[in-house]
Amino acid sequence: MIEAKEVSLIYPDGTKALKNINLKINPGELVYITGPSGSGKTSLLKLLIGMEYTSEGELKVLNETMDKNNERKIRKLRKRIGPVFQEFKLIDGRTALENVMMGMRFLGIAPGKMKEDAENALKRVGLEHKIHTLVEHLSWGEAQRVAIARAVARKPVLILADEPTGNLDHENAINILELLTSFKDQDTAVIITTHATHLIDGVKDATFVRVNSGEITVIRSEVG
Ligand SMILES: Nc1ncnc2c1ncn2[C@@H]1O[C@H](COP(=O)(O)OP(=O)(O)OP(=O)(O)O)[C@@H](O)[C@H]1O
Ligand SMILES: [Mg+2]
Repeated sequence: MIEAKEVSLIYPDGTKALKNINLKINPGELVYITGPSGSGKTSLLKLLIGMEYTSEGELKVLNETMDKNNERKIRKLRKRIGPVFQEFKLIDGRTALENVMMGMRFLGIAPGKMKEDAENALKRVGLEHKIHTLVEHLSWGEAQRVAIARAVARKPVLILADEPTGNLDHENAINILELLTSFKDQDTAVIITTHATHLIDGVKDATFVRVNSGEITVIRSEVG
């Protein structure tokens, strides 16, 4: 599903954000990317969704080579990825349902089916009572659930979430992580960055990618 060989990412200003990354991720894997602020977690996710391109090495995501010369295919590939990123903010002035449906445009789904899938996604994240609420009237945690519904309504095979717990309190943060990991199945991998390692201590059957100054260490926890 993901294969990185000797991948580096150097930003235009010369910052070497990722150095010689080797990583293989299979369908059905739950992956936590951890590491201090500035270590390269978001940069790694950006490579996986094609918001940045590798400077060195080779990266394949869902069998596509993630490089500039492959942009047309990468645009298609993105339809199979569900991103939960700060960069993809919800649209104010629109309801939760409208926001989720906007994430499903261009997928070629019939409008009626799109609405039904969007409603189901909002139910799945526990927001059936807020379907018609404007997103700016939601709490941060509720808005994050809408963002998750928007990501999963398109039935992605790869879910990428960047710091999805923000600064939620412990209980709500755990709930968000449990919600996200509930979308893992035999075809679907879930990848989550967090610097809140206390939230994921002892999680079984997961892959931990520890990032330190752009270098990674991969540890797989035992199956629980
Ligand atoms: N567009 C950019 N141009 C130049 N440098 C960048 C850019 N984006 C990130 N960086 C730098 O790359 C390094 C890795 O940043 P990144 O955002 O991946 O860290 P992070 O692990 O996600 O941190 P945080 O936990 O604070 O979100 C940092 O040194 C950062 O300053
Ligand atoms: Mg980050």
